Amino acid sequence: MAERRVLISPSILAADFTRLGDEIRTIEAAGADMIHIDVMDGHFVPNLTMGPFVVEAVRRCTGLPIDAHLMITDPAEHAAAFIDAGADFIVFHSEACKDPSAVIKLIRSRGAKPGLAVNPPNPAEKIEPFLDEIDLALVMTVNPGFAGQSFIADVMPKLATLARWKRERGLGFFIEVDGGIGPSQAPLVVTNGGEILVAASAIFGAPDAGAALVALREAGESALA
Ligand code: DX5
Ligand code: ZN
Repeated sequence: MAERRVLISPSILAADFTRLGDEIRTIEAAGADMIHIDVMDGHFVPNLTMGPFVVEAVRRCTGLPIDAHLMITDPAEHAAAFIDAGADFIVFHSEACKDPSAVIKLIRSRGAKPGLAVNPPNPAEKIEPFLDEIDLALVMTVNPGFAGQSFIADVMPKLATLARWKRERGLGFFIEVDGGIGPSQAPLVVTNGGEILVAASAIFGAPDAGAALVALREAGESALA
């Protein structure tokens, strides 16, 4: 058996919010590794979703690491509120700020783990200068804004480039991949270096979210065998 394990970070964007606590308990029992919370501000992306208030509620019902994905125009202004609410990873977009290093330092100084995301049209070079400063690189396989979009396979060479840089340079950041991922896409993502798979629809859109999570991990790990 391969040593490497595929980590799963279910995105609550497709959860049933009338029973969010139950949804989180279900995926935690099924072996979720993290909880992905998609924060959208109506500016950086057209959609509006969740703020620190929801992070704080999720924090109260799980001990799993919370992975806050900030799709907002001013991550420096709001990062602290998400950390105070209990987020462990604060992932922001390289496209959203002029000085990612300053935001990375701010996040770390408040005791959280910084991550940088890159959108499908942008190259890996966009986040390359910061790879030794971050704990997580998030490769988007959809244009951010909504759950349920189609996976963009053209992003795979960029993912492979990041994985190669990580290996060659002995860096420690996690490689997370987000958007349109289900059991059909997971082997390709893992083959190209994805370590943490984010999924909203493939998990919470399934009749049995726990079974869907297990199936997603198995599909990803089939590429390691
Ligand atoms: C997209 C979000 C994703 C989204 C994934 O803007 O960043 O995390 O929730 O949803 P699915 O898995 O349905 O593509
Ligand atoms: Zn996300």
